[in-house]
Amino acid sequence: MTPRIKFLMCAPDHYDVDYVINPWMEGNIHKSSRDRAVEQWQGLHHIIKEHAIVDLVQPQKGVPDMVFTANAGLVLGKNVVLSRFLHKERQGEEPFFKAWFEENGYTVYELPKDLPFEGAGDALLDREGRWLWAGYGFRSELDSHPYLAKWLDIEVLSLRLIDDRFYHLDTCFCPLANGYLLYYPGAFDSYSNRLIEMRVAAEKRIPIEEADAVNFACNAVNIDHIVVMNKASDSLKARLGEVGFQVIETPLTEFLKAGGAAKCLTLRTTEPVREELHANVYVESRILKIEGHLLDSGLINRALDLIVDNGGSFQVLNFSLGEQRQSTSAAEVKVSAPSHEVMESILSHLIDLGAVDLPQDERDAKLEPVEKNGVAPDDFYVTTIYPTEVRISGEWVQVQNQRMDGAIAITRTPQGIVAKCKLLRDLEVGEEVVVDVLGIRTIRKTESREKRNAEEFSFMSAGVSSERRVELVVEQVAWELRKIRDAGGKVVVTAGPVVIHTGGGEHLSRLIREGYVQALLGGNAIAVHDIEQSMLGTSLGVDMKRGVAVRGGHRHHLKAINTIRRYGSIAKAVEAGIINSGIMYECVKNDVPFVLAGSIRDDGPLPDTQMDLIKAQVEYAKHIRGAEMILMLSSMLHSIGVGNMTPAGVKMVCVDINPAVVTKLSDRGSIESVGVVTDVGLFLSLLVQQLDKLTSPYVTKAR
Ligand SMILES: NC(=O)c1ccc[n+]([C@@H]2O[C@H](COP(=O)([O-])OP(=O)(O)OC[C@H]3O[C@@H](n4cnc5c(N)ncnc54)[C@H](O)[C@@H]3O)[C@@H](O)[C@H]2O)c1
Repeated sequence: MTPRIKFLMCAPDHYDVDYVINPWMEGNIHKSSRDRAVEQWQGLHHIIKEHAIVDLVQPQKGVPDMVFTANAGLVLGKNVVLSRFLHKERQGEEPFFKAWFEENGYTVYELPKDLPFEGAGDALLDREGRWLWAGYGFRSELDSHPYLAKWLDIEVLSLRLIDDRFYHLDTCFCPLANGYLLYYPGAFDSYSNRLIEMRVAAEKRIPIEEADAVNFACNAVNIDHIVVMNKASDSLKARLGEVGFQVIETPLTEFLKAGGAAKCLTLRTTEPVREELHANVYVESRILKIEGHLLDSGLINRALDLIVDNGGSFQVLNFSLGEQRQSTSAAEVKVSAPSHEVMESILSHLIDLGAVDLPQDERDAKLEPVEKNGVAPDDFYVTTIYPTEVRISGEWVQVQNQRMDGAIAITRTPQGIVAKCKLLRDLEVGEEVVVDVLGIRTIRKTESREKRNAEEFSFMSAGVSSERRVELVVEQVAWELRKIRDAGGKVVVTAGPVVIHTGGGEHLSRLIREGYVQALLGGNAIAVHDIEQSMLGTSLGVDMKRGVAVRGGHRHHLKAINTIRRYGSIAKAVEAGIINSGIMYECVKNDVPFVLAGSIRDDGPLPDTQMDLIKAQVEYAKHIRGAEMILMLSSMLHSIGVGNMTPAGVKMVCVDINPAVVTKLSDRGSIESVGVVTDVGLFLSLLVQQLDKLTSPYVTKAR
C-alpha cells in the first residue's frame, strides 16, 4: 500500500440511469440493478483501499451521477478547478463537490458560467506530472484549457474527441506510471493523434482495439504497477504485463450502462506539483466578423461547421439579424483552436467564406522573402478563386491575377506596392510572399435576396442539376450566351473529344461560327477527331452519320494527324482546302484562338498541340483572362485545369455525364458555377435549338 495516495469516491446509494446524456445511457433508463451496482462499487472500493486511502463524499438524492467523482473537478496540489457540467442534469452536483473540496482545504477555482469543463473526466495528468492532457469536443470547451494552465501553472495539451461513445477523455485515454500511455486512437482526430505521438515515444504507447475500448479498458485506475479496470482482453493483459503492469479486473457493468467505469468512479486527490514546470498553453483565440445573408444562404452554418470539423471550437459573441429581406446579417464569432497550426487552417477556410479577423483590421500581412526561384517560404498563404486583399504598411492592396492554388507575391515599385497571385514556379528572388493568415481578406459578393433569386444561375446554385432540369439550364445558358455575345463579351469553351463522338461537333461549330465563342481550349484529341470527321466522315473510325464502324476506320485518326503534319498546321490545312468544316475549321475561319494542350496519351501529336505543359498552362491562362463565361464540355482533364485558373465571378457551366466530375468542378462554393449531368451531344443540340428560339434582347449588336 502507498498511503500517501488518496482517492475520493461516492457510494452508489442514489445511483440509477435516470436520463440520457451519452450513447451508453440510451435504452438503459432504470435498467441498472441497484444491488448489483452496490456490489460492484464495493468490489472496486475494496481493491483501491488495498493500495491507497479512500475518502468518501456523501451521496445526494436527485444527482445519481455523483457516484462518478472523477467529474468533481481537477486537482493539482492543493488547487482544484471545479467542474462546470455541460448538462443541467449534472449541474446539481457542483455545490456538493465544492463544499467537500473547501472542507478539505483545497483552493477552489470556478470557471465562468457557460464555459463547460468536466474535471478529471476530461483532464488527465501525465503520471510523471510533466503536463496535463485535456480533452474537448463533447463535454468540455476548448476555451476552458487556458484557465487550467493559468490556475494550475502547468502545460496543457489539448486533445479533440470525435467519437461520442468516448465523450470524456478518461473513457479512451489513460496515462500510466513510467510514462506509458494506454489509449484508443480511434477516439481522436488526426491532429490529436499526431500530438500524442509527438509527446509519447512509440515504445511507451499502448494503443488498444475497439473491443477493449468499449469495455472501458482505458477507464482504468493506475496506482504504481497496478491497473484496475472493468475488463481487458488477454492480449491487452499480456501487453500490459510485458511492461510491468498487473491488471486487476473488477466487473463494473452496471456503471457502464451510464457510460462510466473504474476511473470515472474515483478521483485522485493527491497529485504532486512539480515546481520546476510552468504554465504553457497552445490554445489560440480570434474574434472574426462574418457578414452577408448568413441565415438564408446557410453561410453561418457552414462557417460554424467548418470550425468544428477542423478541430476548433466557437462562441457566437454577437449576432445582428438583418431585419429587412434585403438587409444582411452580421456575426461576431470567437474561434478557438488547440494550436496556431490548427488556427491557421481554420482561418484560411473562414477567409474563403469572407470572414474578417477583427483585431486584424490593425494588423499587416506577414511577409517572407523568396529565397529560391520557384519556391515559396514555408507556411505561405494558398490563394482561392475569390477577390483578395492584403494589408501592407497599413493599406489594403488588391491582389491581381486572382486564381486558385497560388501564392501572393509582393513587389515594391516606385508606383507603389503590387500584390499578385503567382504559381509557385513563377516566384522570383526579390519578391516577398504572404505567409500565415494575418492581414488577408477575401471579398464575397453579398447580393440582395431578390437579386439572388432573380439571377439567371441562382436556381441551379443548390447543386448539380438533375436530368429533368437540363432543359431549364439550357434555356438559361442560351440566354446568357446571347447576352454576352451581343454585348461584345467573352465566352471560353473547353471541350474534350466526346463532343465529336456524341455528334455535338456540328453544334459547337455553329456556336463558333455565330460568334458565341471567343476562345477554345482543349487537347490533341478534340482537334484530331474533329478533323477526322471533317476529312473522312468518321470519329475514331465510326461513321458519324450511320453510327457504325467503317472498315479500316481505326486508322483514320492517324491519317488525319498525318495530313495535318504534312501541311504544317491546322490553319494551313484549312487554307489549302483540306479541311472544310468542323470546329477547328470554324476557329480558323472566324479568328477564334484555340489552345491544344498536350498529354501523355496523345497520338501524333498535331503540330498545333503544345507539348510543353507549362507553356500550355500559360496560354490557357491568357485566354481565360477577361472571360465572363466558361463552358466546360466533357473533358475532366482540361476542365479541372481551367477551373483552377479561373477567379470567382466567372460563370462556369460544366457538362459531363459523370455526376462526380460535375460535382468536383461546380463545387467551388461559388454561386456562379453550375453543373449539368447529361450527354454533351444532347446538351449542345438543345443549346443551338434554344438559341434559335431566342430573339436578341438588344437592338444593336456590338460585334
Ligand atoms: N488520340 C488522341 O490523341 C487522344 C485520344 C483521347 C484523349 N486524348 C487526350 O487525353 C486527354 C484527356 O482526354 P479527355 O478530355 O477526353 O478525357 P477526360 O477523361 O479528361 O474527360 C472525358 C470526360 O467526358 C465525360 N463523358 C464521357 N461520355 C460523355 C458523354 N456522352 N457526355 C458528356 N460527358 C461525357 C467523362 O465522364 C469524362 O469526365 C486530353 O488531353 C486528350 O486530348 C488524346
